[in-house]
Amino acid sequence: MAQTPVKVTVTGAAGQIGYALLFRIASGHLLGADVPVKLSLLEIPQAVKAAEGTAMELDDCAFPLLSGIEITDDANKAFDGANIALLVGARPRTAGMERGDLLQANGGIFGPQGKAINDHAADDIRVLVVGNPANTNALIAQHSAPDVPAERFTAMTRLDHNRALSQLAAKLQVPVTEIKKMTIWGNHSATQYPDLFHAEVGGKIAAELVDDAWLRDTFIPTVAKRGAAIIEARGASSAASAANAAIDHVFDWVNGTEWTSAAIPSDGSYGVPEGLISSFPVASRNGKWEIIQGLEIDAFSRERIDASVRELEEERTAVRELGLI
Ligand code: NAD
Ligand code: LMR
Repeated sequence: MAQTPVKVTVTGAAGQIGYALLFRIASGHLLGADVPVKLSLLEIPQAVKAAEGTAMELDDCAFPLLSGIEITDDANKAFDGANIALLVGARPRTAGMERGDLLQANGGIFGPQGKAINDHAADDIRVLVVGNPANTNALIAQHSAPDVPAERFTAMTRLDHNRALSQLAAKLQVPVTEIKKMTIWGNHSATQYPDLFHAEVGGKIAAELVDDAWLRDTFIPTVAKRGAAIIEARGASSAASAANAAIDHVFDWVNGTEWTSAAIPSDGSYGVPEGLISSFPVASRNGKWEIIQGLEIDAFSRERIDASVRELEEERTAVRELGLI
């Protein structure tokens, strides 16, 4: 008997990440080359027509694994029976907007979507939040979904992880495949900490293969501010690389990996307050993320992890005060 298709819901489907993401999901990169998928596209009413246009193009690809496409502006329908939810659509910061305004506006999106997931998604739902501020949007959605296991809500730092791999590979003139155990800690923001003290290249610690000044003054800020550099160069935020990272995150979550970075709810490991959705070094085993334990954290790393975690705590306090969690 043919395998039941996996329902993948994508919000912000008519946006630029959506356009880069949907074709790769439909061609089998999200879950595997033998897994049929059914796409559910959620958009705001004004963008439903554009999503319909993307769906026409998906049809025109005649993807063997794509068993159907639904398009709606109703979150309850979009998440009905969903197995995977990619929450991409978010309210961007616009001129004159304070952080509180941004969090409030996103609360109006991620709260109701979390509730719709809670009420309608399949029991095995896995959620990846891409829309910024991703960690805190994930926290809002998670709090609106009390019946879904908390660890099913994650936020994306895989793009930062991939950026760190690429920067280090270029510096050391090695293929990215030679780099193991890269880690991004903290928030998907400029405070994130890309860690070379546990990363290995050819069995050697990466931090020992580069000079301190490059690590501190070039590597860390280049990775942490790469999103802004892309916006400056392209005139729009990263899209294909963000879509690629979302594919990597979900593929590894479902199929397993021994080491990557993902923002997942903290269990208190490494001094990160419980419940914050923070990036850690993670493995995925039996379909579940696990924080890699036992790493020694020196003073240099401690200071940087703490700074990013502090920012996450401030965001959590702000959304609490706004009544969003
Ligand atoms: P975009 O503006 O091109 O598309 C966003 C889409 O979301 C739009 O089509 C909009 O209509 C839709 N949308 C807005 N509110 C919605 C709602 N309530 N329900 C459904 N759809 C809704 O933006 P983009 O370039 O695709 O980026 C999307 C988000 O991803 C942004 O927040 C961006 O900052 C973020 N991002 C995150 C990362 C990361 O690494 N975590 C990387 C790149 C971009
Ligand atoms: C990125 O890292 O590329 C994005 O999060 C940047 C942004 O602000 O959308």
